[in-house]
Amino acid sequence: MTQPLKITIVGSGYVGLVAAACFSELGHQVVCVDKDTQKIDQLRAGQIPIHEEYLPELLERHRGKRLMFTENLSEATREADVIFVAVGTPQSSSGSADLSYIDAVACEVARSVSGYKVIVEKSTVPVFTNEWIGRVLVRNGVPRSSFDVASNPEFLREGTAVQDFLVPDRIVIGADSDRAVELLRRLYQPLTSGEYYLRADCLFPSQNVTSKLPTLLLTSTKAAELIKHASNAFLAMKISFINTVANICEAAGADVDEVATGIGMDERIGPRFLNPGIGYGGSCFPKDVAAFRYVANQLGVNFDLLREVESINGRQQEGFVQKVASALWTLRGKKIGVLGLAFKGGTDDIRDSPAIAIVQSLLQKGCVVTAHDPAAMERTAQVLPPSDDMRYADDPYAVADGADALLILTDWKSFASLDLTRLRALLRYPIIIDGRNLFDPNTMEAACFDYLSVGRPPVHAASIEAPEQPLASPTKKGSWSAPGAMPALSVGA
Ligand code: UGA
Repeated sequence: MTQPLKITIVGSGYVGLVAAACFSELGHQVVCVDKDTQKIDQLRAGQIPIHEEYLPELLERHRGKRLMFTENLSEATREADVIFVAVGTPQSSSGSADLSYIDAVACEVARSVSGYKVIVEKSTVPVFTNEWIGRVLVRNGVPRSSFDVASNPEFLREGTAVQDFLVPDRIVIGADSDRAVELLRRLYQPLTSGEYYLRADCLFPSQNVTSKLPTLLLTSTKAAELIKHASNAFLAMKISFINTVANICEAAGADVDEVATGIGMDERIGPRFLNPGIGYGGSCFPKDVAAFRYVANQLGVNFDLLREVESINGRQQEGFVQKVASALWTLRGKKIGVLGLAFKGGTDDIRDSPAIAIVQSLLQKGCVVTAHDPAAMERTAQVLPPSDDMRYADDPYAVADGADALLILTDWKSFASLDLTRLRALLRYPIIIDGRNLFDPNTMEAACFDYLSVGRPPVHAASIEAPEQPLASPTKKGSWSAPGAMPALSVGA
């Protein structure tokens, strides 16, 4: 049996909150600290500030027992064996990561260190942050023998964060002292030994039968910091690569799904993260690609490859708007239905969401947008308040009602099972432009849609055949046929 440890986690954002819930699930005693007292009150009262599968179950299981919430960092520091720093590292105007929150936490932790502690970076930070944290602690009077600073980067994805944490493909521990390594090994022992997967209340019990146990990789602290940045930059590069291949497929009349399958079967490349679309977004890839490029530059290493990854990503969103224009000819005054606002399915997070960027671009070009997202409408309404041009609908079918075209901008699974006959009847013109390749083009052809997706041949079924189902309002729809993928000579105005 693993000996439980006392853990303090500073920061109750996506990473901090999920880590806190999961470490308590593994049997440790966890205190989650945030200076936002309102958020702490909400968490204590059982409210959950983010949409994340399994998180409600875990918080319900452990809140008030193995998992406490407080705004008092000093008290939490004194009690802890291990202190995780999971505060934000936003992008500064230079592209570098703004480390001021980490600096502030290190200063405050320094005031309360009593006895040996391991301070662990969980936030995504540039190489050398570890050394800076150590320097801040020493400058604030903490003896060097009273602490170690380690790096334990997190690889969880929003939407599947709890599963990624509890069933990781690897656990990276960067530490330069044996004492720190031992404590961190103990933290993850329930996973690396498989003990957790045998528990009757394990959330993912099939792991013990079907999969190998998570590997624990020990590295230097600097290597661990670099592993995190390099992993995210590589994944972003993979997405920009397949998006460019998708554009080539469109120009050549080939199907990117076939191409991605073919290249992904090479074990050196692998099939994951080869889904083309409207570009990557979220709170990690855009910020981390810029920060890693900045780090390289500071160290005198040319990493312009990452600049190109960023440019391709931006162009992918512009290209999608162009595709909408190519289907509708002009954009001013057009009614556009939008399904999806979150930066990806399964989350309510809209930070750097390509969907929001596309909606903003359409609004600028004079479109009237009605949008639906299963989880992200409240957050989006704070950025794009409801108005005559920007409307929100509680149900996906209401978005389609009377729209000139329907856009799919987030890969929510529920969108893929929408009733196509009903959608077709509601739309003014039967045009779906899918930025996430959620639908099979053959299905869309059979359902008589004009269907444009990313990197796959367009379907112009609506102009060929009449639908099996009578249209809801023949007079409204008339005998119009969509112009499909004709180049838009005039975009917008
Ligand atoms: C990403 C990484 O995948 C995690 O490993 C990492 O821990 C996390 O950042 C972080 O640094 O905290 P996340 O941002 O939650 O996780 O989401 P992803 O699933 O990686 O998706 C990022 C973006 O890429 C989304 O906009 C998604 O739609 C897009 N994407 C992803 C594609 O366009 N194509 C793909 O094949 C995969």
